[in-house]
Amino acid sequence: MKNIDSRTHVRGESIYLDDIPLVQGTLFGAAFPSPIAHGIIKRLDLSVAEAMPGVVKILTYQDVTGENQIGGIVPDEPLLAEHHVHYVGMPIAFVLAEADDQARAAVKKITVDIDPLPVITDPREAHAKGELIIRPRTHRLGDTSTAWAQCTHISKGRADSNGQEHLYIETQGAYAIPQENNAIKLYSSTQGPTAVQRAVARSSGLAMHQIDVDVTRLGGGFGGKEDQANMWAALCALAAHILRKPVKYSLHRMEDMAMTGKRHPYSSDFKIGLDDELRIIAYEATFYQNAGAAADLSPAVLERTLFHCTNSYFIPNVTATAYSCRTHLPPNTAFRGFGGPQGMFVIEAAIAKAAENLGIDASVIQSRNLNKTGDEFAYGQKAVSEAHACWNKAQELYELSAIRSRIDSFNATNVLYKKGIALMPICFGISFTNTRMNQARALVHVYTDGSVGVSTGAVEMGQGVNTKMLQVAAHEFSVRPERIKLQATSTYRIANTSPSAASATADLNGKAVQMACTEIVNRLKVVAAGEFQVSAEEIILKDEWVYVNGERTDWDWNRLVMEAFTKRVSLSEHAHYATPEIHYDASREKGHPFAYHVYGTAIVEVTIDCLRGTYDMESVKVVHDFGVSMNPLIDRGQIEGGIVQGLGWMTMEEVVYDKAGRLRSNALSTYKVPDIYSVPKEIAIEPLKTEQDNLAIFRSKAVGEPPLMYGIGAYFALRNAIYAFNSTAAIPFDAPMTPEKVLLALYDNSAKEDSVTNEQTESAKHLAANS
Ligand code: MTE
Ligand code: HPA
Ligand code: MOS
Repeated sequence: MKNIDSRTHVRGESIYLDDIPLVQGTLFGAAFPSPIAHGIIKRLDLSVAEAMPGVVKILTYQDVTGENQIGGIVPDEPLLAEHHVHYVGMPIAFVLAEADDQARAAVKKITVDIDPLPVITDPREAHAKGELIIRPRTHRLGDTSTAWAQCTHISKGRADSNGQEHLYIETQGAYAIPQENNAIKLYSSTQGPTAVQRAVARSSGLAMHQIDVDVTRLGGGFGGKEDQANMWAALCALAAHILRKPVKYSLHRMEDMAMTGKRHPYSSDFKIGLDDELRIIAYEATFYQNAGAAADLSPAVLERTLFHCTNSYFIPNVTATAYSCRTHLPPNTAFRGFGGPQGMFVIEAAIAKAAENLGIDASVIQSRNLNKTGDEFAYGQKAVSEAHACWNKAQELYELSAIRSRIDSFNATNVLYKKGIALMPICFGISFTNTRMNQARALVHVYTDGSVGVSTGAVEMGQGVNTKMLQVAAHEFSVRPERIKLQATSTYRIANTSPSAASATADLNGKAVQMACTEIVNRLKVVAAGEFQVSAEEIILKDEWVYVNGERTDWDWNRLVMEAFTKRVSLSEHAHYATPEIHYDASREKGHPFAYHVYGTAIVEVTIDCLRGTYDMESVKVVHDFGVSMNPLIDRGQIEGGIVQGLGWMTMEEVVYDKAGRLRSNALSTYKVPDIYSVPKEIAIEPLKTEQDNLAIFRSKAVGEPPLMYGIGAYFALRNAIYAFNSTAAIPFDAPMTPEKVLLALYDNSAKEDSVTNEQTESAKHLAANS
């Protein structure tokens, strides 16, 4: 089934926040951001701004009617700065004006005197100064301290991965409209309608039942709107509450880039030990997470880094410690993979380092150590593994050895272009790591004309979840999809939702839809059984007809629905689903946090231009563990998008803050994201169909985040291509591998000041000839 939004998307008719018609009298908000990363506010001068045309009011922390606090996990984030500022971009005041440009013009006229304090942008420095957001966390399996004695090869190193701008096409924004008796209706571009409702209630002082958050869809979230939509919604709601006027704030791209957090940069140390058979016996890692100036979701992200720190490998002795370090950057937040990719990058770097030391290909170590069903993760859960199945299938299907010999002969005959290849296995746990978040609800109404309305807590952000929800209802009722409408996500219809995140949205909400539909179907069957004088078990609803003992009756769906209504049988149901089996004890760091894992293997091939340092992504060839995909087209789109987003993170997207904490890569002219020319020339996706019982909806495994991690393979493929040109290059594990870094590595001489290899001399001759 194709995505139910495709028609309105293509015609430009899909409704986003900025498409909502404005109510008369709407005011426009704009935040005044701190110009300084760390300091004490001495004086705030609003007088010039207040006199600007159209300005109605400027709010500061003193105007907050509830609690001046929006921190979700840790209460460390004021809605508006009081005396302290912690990052460049932290909102200090909120201007309300009659027009959008008037509000922004007034923002420019606000002046503030701030006594500067020392600025920390580096997580290791924050750690050294004791600036931690939460207590450190350690995952342990076996005993690494004694295991080193069993290792014949030990490698150590450091690996750094940078942040990533979400760059959702629709920027952050909210629109608050006051209702009677102090209630507020809020449109918000959020993945977490309940998170927004909670933040608004807290900061305005209203009860949650006064606040209806309504979300039709997002133009992308990618984690950036799991928590960070709260700020803009709370500011708009506060202003609407105080002024009794509708208030809208839709951020400009540069405001969004400067004021919101991104993927967490990590700096990590690793130590890996292998025995003679290349089995990884021990692994130690220390992660320094750059959390930014407030906790936001960092503690949960940190946890997932640990959960995924051994990727899809079984390692019997693991000690992994993670520090969430407070710096003076905008609070970093959820981003597709949620800390998992950062953890996986480090183990892949460790394996690459070990392979380089041993003079072998990393894939030898990778394949030797893939986990098997029954193997234990450091956090106690036992694997139900598809790791070998994916790896072996990829190797055979894509004829890995043929690819390798093609690449070897290319590299032997080309001097100015070199190819590189890397394999990237993935293993990603599905469920919110916070067990209590794994619940969802659905509300299903069958109307008397036979049409069906479905509401869930799921937010459509381009990932196709509404199409999947519709498929579930159509399947359970056995009616045509056209009969069913997915309603906008509303906190009045569905309460206490978890954000649409953790790749679990379709599973959680889909199971709730399934339960609600089953309840209604059971009632309808009783009605039919009464008419046809049989037991309800003998009734089947199929393709919009009632069947009795396999024979079609003259009751169709419409007739059945109308008869049920006439008999005063409820045609509505509200269902609740909570993932069974999962549990986690954070004090012991053991449990069974995930409903299941998603596996896969990618083969990534790149070509670098050794004169310029630029490169082409030749191909990404994947075998992916879909379970049984309920919508192959949508899932394929998720994999393609995830791969390209992962490649971007690992190769070209470079978030740059200066020492003063100012974002230098603050626009699309200075922050390079993959465009159509940087997309791999070939993306091959082969499903690994796994029929095993799992907790996925219709056994169709979650697909939102895992494919992003295939992109990590691009980093290692580039490294291998560089080595083909300069075998003694010293290449730090420092992602992203931008063309600039490739160029530096190609001509790095640090390891061999005077012993120039023949190949180098050859290429130097070619370069000279060419120039
Ligand atoms: N795909 C699109 N088109 N837009 C998005 O914002 N977010 C990703 C992924 N795929 C995203 C996306 C992230 S971070 C997650 S957690 C999942 O979708 C969320 O949706 P799901 O739980 O339905 O997979
Ligand atoms: N994934 C994504 N978002 C989350 C999680 C998680 O595990 N936990 C809390 N928010
Ligand atoms: Mo996704 S990072 O869990 O929103």
